[in-house]
Amino acid sequence: MISKNELALRRIPFSSLKSSTEAFIDYCLPECRPKFNYALIGSGVSQNPNQPVNIREPHGFQLGGVSIPNGKFNTAHMHFTCEVFLCFKGNWLIQWGFNPSCETAEIAELDIISIPTWIYRGFKNIGVDDGFLFTALGGDKTGGVLWGPTTIDAAQKNGVYLTKNHQMVDTTRGETKPPKEELFEPMTTSEIDQLKKWSVAEMSSRIVRFNELKWSKSGLLDCSIPGCGAQVAAVIGLGMAEDVNLHSKITNSHGVSIEWLRIPIGGQVSKHFLNEKQVVICKKSEIQIQLEASDGEYVTTLKGNEDGWDTFSIPSKCWRVFKNIGTEEALLAVLISGDQRKTITWSDDVVRKANELGITKDANGYVAEKRFVERAQ
Ligand SMILES: [Fe+2]
Repeated sequence: MISKNELALRRIPFSSLKSSTEAFIDYCLPECRPKFNYALIGSGVSQNPNQPVNIREPHGFQLGGVSIPNGKFNTAHMHFTCEVFLCFKGNWLIQWGFNPSCETAEIAELDIISIPTWIYRGFKNIGVDDGFLFTALGGDKTGGVLWGPTTIDAAQKNGVYLTKNHQMVDTTRGETKPPKEELFEPMTTSEIDQLKKWSVAEMSSRIVRFNELKWSKSGLLDCSIPGCGAQVAAVIGLGMAEDVNLHSKITNSHGVSIEWLRIPIGGQVSKHFLNEKQVVICKKSEIQIQLEASDGEYVTTLKGNEDGWDTFSIPSKCWRVFKNIGTEEALLAVLISGDQRKTITWSDDVVRKANELGITKDANGYVAEKRFVERAQ
């Protein structure tokens, strides 16, 4: 178990985020800047060695954020692990393919899209200037970024070069142009042509729009207990939900599961325990998190409002309670490490209260009516 002081370091208030506007080679392109890149959790995905990171501890995935003003782009690049965009503000045009034209899909606030690996992708802000995407990249080591040929050519025309070692060399700042043999070699258009092509219809299977979510009223053992009432909606992978009929739309391996959790005013998710690291981002309302530390109880709050969205990384093997102490229904994005199904252990008190309401968990860990579970032998 970790101490209260160590837990306090896992709180990431939105106001504490520090951006880099020179994280990647596209910083030199007028159509791309200013781009504010944030690295919240993980080793950080950036080609700028000075990129600030809030929590470097490996989580099995990276959590970042990005904001660019209306009309600006993040140009075509490729990743080897999943890249998920969680739209927390604004409207965005997601682009992919780039051979040479691209396919597109629009996403709006609260939509989530998982871009397949091994395709070129980019995005454009088509909404408010302070639109914001949280980004989740799979793996502790993502393998880095491959920039597309158009971006590399455009950067060179602006005097900025990328080396094979992924160093950015800016000749407009007096740095020396690297010799040709040391320059990064982007894929050619014919090589890009060999990559799998994702149609708009195929990509729509990787977008989970908020208005299409299925909210489970029996997704947690304590939901029916007075004063609780939280609901879960599955988005990516196998998460913590305990509803046998709740399934994520996106099911391939990401190294992380993503679910939405909403808690009514005054409601809570009662005392429970997870083996995995769990990252929560508060989108709406104010959440009080109570965690069991080695030296007592650690209590903190996360807020989600027009000023931003606070994040907390709960360590593995930790007892926790979430309470909505705000004045509106709380909404949290919940990211849990690993592809396996996550099994919640509830406190004895929760199990007893649920049992009194005729509710239990079946042998498979799903919420069920106690009378049927007991009838089996
Ligand atoms: Fe990316």
